[in-house]
Amino acid sequence: MEAAGSAYPDTTSIMILRRRPATGPAGAESERGETLTATVVLGLAWGDEGKGRVCDALAADARYVSRYSGGNNAGHTVRVGEEEFVLHLLPSGVLREGVTCTIGNGVVVNPEVLREEIEALEKRGFGEVRQQLKVDGRAHLIMPYHIALDTHREESLGKARLGTTNRGIGPCYEDKAGRVGIRVQDVFDEDVLRHKLEKALVEKNAVFQNIYGEEPHSLEDLLGWLVSFRDLLAPMVEDTGVLLREALGEGEPVLFEGAQATLLDVDHGTYPYVTSSNPSVGGVCVGAGIPPQGISDVIGVTKAYTTRVGDGPFPTELFDEAGEILAAAGHEFGSTTGRARRCGWLDLVATKQMAALNGVTQVAVTKLDVLSAVEEIKVCVGYEIDGATLDQFPMGLDDLGRVTPVYKSLPGWGDDISECRMRGDLPEEAQDFVGFIETELGAPLCMISVGPERDQAIVEKVGV
Ligand code: GDP
Ligand code: IMO
Ligand code: MG
Repeated sequence: MEAAGSAYPDTTSIMILRRRPATGPAGAESERGETLTATVVLGLAWGDEGKGRVCDALAADARYVSRYSGGNNAGHTVRVGEEEFVLHLLPSGVLREGVTCTIGNGVVVNPEVLREEIEALEKRGFGEVRQQLKVDGRAHLIMPYHIALDTHREESLGKARLGTTNRGIGPCYEDKAGRVGIRVQDVFDEDVLRHKLEKALVEKNAVFQNIYGEEPHSLEDLLGWLVSFRDLLAPMVEDTGVLLREALGEGEPVLFEGAQATLLDVDHGTYPYVTSSNPSVGGVCVGAGIPPQGISDVIGVTKAYTTRVGDGPFPTELFDEAGEILAAAGHEFGSTTGRARRCGWLDLVATKQMAALNGVTQVAVTKLDVLSAVEEIKVCVGYEIDGATLDQFPMGLDDLGRVTPVYKSLPGWGDDISECRMRGDLPEEAQDFVGFIETELGAPLCMISVGPERDQAIVEKVGV
């Protein structure tokens, strides 16, 4: 139903999220016999799998949508009719009326970006954003010197660069781990801010002056900058962990929106070509402050092929015409930096391992329509290295850089599938392709998207 004159256009429920039912059969049950209600949506590759559009669909049924890791390095695209929204820091639930959105303690917050995103949405008619948003007081702030450090380091690394988004993410998480970070709650206490800035700037300014030949960052300027966000932040600051634990206790449907993805996880990804947080499922408990027993479902999102933006090994990367076709048909340009995304075939060795790591209970396959552009589809089902076959994703980057993918070839279908809304509507070859992914990943498909629009998806109700 479209609410007349409302910027929140569609409230159609797709009923994938669990709610604790008043009566009747329960889904996953906790030890206390209660149905667990938190669903996690996370990426199984190197990001940009379409998490934003999957979350947007699920948010129709959610009471809370929460970010738990990363910052504005993310770019989550949601298309609603003619309108496109690219969300970097705000959870995609802000596009749904009545949904409370939390930015958890594990997120790194650039307050300027927070303000810009809120104001941009308000200009587009989303008048409730400020009331919807809650920001955890423990979340760390991305400071101007974090962005400067990120940029300098990437430049000085030259060809060895990581290809970061230059948003200051790594340096901010370093300060968090180094216990010199500035947190959201600190902006309300000038003495704390002054003390923390003094401490942080000793090392930072030595680096800026002595290594990069730059002027030192001014404590007074930074103090003034931080204090200028007090009015913006004051109504939003909350212990979001308490909020979410209460919501889970009441059986409310909570959605966790993963940013980045498992192969970019600082522990489990292709280190050092990773981000500096834990996008994988463990990051939810740490970065949102909820116990693992609260999680009922983990939806792993995979594109029907693979992309990567930034540097680092990518075994199934294509350098031929097929890669160009995928890039063109899939419009594969980064939603945060605009960089061209590297394209390759779906890598089931990596995806299977990442699905197992996250304990995925359901899978969403996105951008299936893009494969209509190719005659033959390949899927990587193994790696060969030094004459041996690996069925496991290697721990070391050297090995990953040397593997040769073993491909299974599947026939394409060629037809336009963007109007398909049931799995049975898909051409047989497309049904076989998604069926193969489902079998290999060992979890049922809950969504297959066939176009970027909100309604261009096949939704399967799984275990609810
Ligand atoms: P995220 O970071 O995981 O949320 O993904 P991004 O938003 O960065 O990138 C996904 C891109 O693919 C966006 O431009 C989406 O509009 C687009 N997209 C999502 N699903 C589909 C689909 O099923 N088909 C097509 N053609 N495009 C899609
Ligand atoms: P979403 O949420 C794709 C990549 C960068 C780089 C590496 C480290 O939209 O899927 P960082 O700035 O985090 O220190 O960069 O991680 N990266 C992403 N790639 N999608 C993202 O987010 C990404 N966020 C970070 O390109 O390779
Ligand atoms: Mg993205």
